[in-house]
Amino acid sequence: MKRIFSGVQPTGNLHIGNYLGALRQFVDLQEENECFYCVVDMHSITVPQDPKLLRSHILDIAALYMAVGLDPKKATIFVQSQVSGHAELNWILTCNAYTGELSRMTQFKQKSQNKESAPAGLFCYPILMAADILLYDADIVPVGNDQKQHIELTRDLAIRINNKYGDTFVVPEGRFLKAGARVMALDDPTAKMSKSAPNEMSRIGLLDEPSKIKKAIMRATTDSEGVIRFDIENKPGISNLLNIYSAFSGKSVEEIEAQYEGQGYGSLKKDLVEITVDALTPIQQRFKEIRGSQLLTDTLNEGAARADAVAKKTMARVKERFGLGL
Ligand code: AMP
Ligand code: TRP
Repeated sequence: MKRIFSGVQPTGNLHIGNYLGALRQFVDLQEENECFYCVVDMHSITVPQDPKLLRSHILDIAALYMAVGLDPKKATIFVQSQVSGHAELNWILTCNAYTGELSRMTQFKQKSQNKESAPAGLFCYPILMAADILLYDADIVPVGNDQKQHIELTRDLAIRINNKYGDTFVVPEGRFLKAGARVMALDDPTAKMSKSAPNEMSRIGLLDEPSKIKKAIMRATTDSEGVIRFDIENKPGISNLLNIYSAFSGKSVEEIEAQYEGQGYGSLKKDLVEITVDALTPIQQRFKEIRGSQLLTDTLNEGAARADAVAKKTMARVKERFGLGL
């Protein structure tokens, strides 16, 4: 049995990219592994947040975790800031990370671009992520490709500290999604679907109404060739729709191409609307039941207690290795 850790930030509602790229893997992994799934609220304050909205988003993400099928009996679901070990280990790792390696992180470069000054938290963000992972002795971290560099840094920190202080951390491995599993923006299929893109029609939120889903898919950018064929280079829009269709229907892309031979984009889009709505409706129903329930707060409090017990053990080991405390 492997130890799994992953986290999602409580910023805005999750979209189908998050679901197909991350959450669906989380659900599969819980069957045969010991999983820790975290709502990483401390990561989200690297950019300004409205406190009331943040609390509400934390509960949204946790409820969505459960709505997509995470089972609190199988997986530990919790909120990062409820376990103090994350912040503690973060500091110790910060003292072992180099400013040079942090300044090479592409996510930092992107997020600090065009800003006169960036919060130090944005710069140190990957260290906190390393702390999340190393605190639980995670073997495997399922994440999107965009997190590859952060996982590399986590591994470097673990190896560096193990070499210097003796065996302290498990060196984790990233489990990245296949290239085709990346969901692209509907309005611009060369960019990935993102929570923060200004155009609402660029994404499909897991909690979106059928009418919004329909609008976004029917307006999705395609091309003028008129042939339904998978070709990421020349037909990124249609290829993206085929990927989404395949992911929700379980059919292979080849099967779908054959099914729509000789048909126009309109019929593919129309069917994709139906398939997407059908996939999201049960998730939305469960979300409604869970979001305001006692079960949600109980799950998170129990999850935090379970996580804290593991974190305390790791921190005792780390402090002993570093000669901290008594
Ligand atoms: P984020 O929305 O950046 O907080 O990402 C949460 C998780 O979803 C991470 O594992 C991401 O890599 C994954 N993810 C985010 N956007 C996409 C996308 N468009 N396609 C596939 N996976 C994604
Ligand atoms: N940085 C990740 C993202 O933006 C979220 C995250 C924080 C995370 N801590 C983590 C993911 C630990 C995996 C493991 O998607």
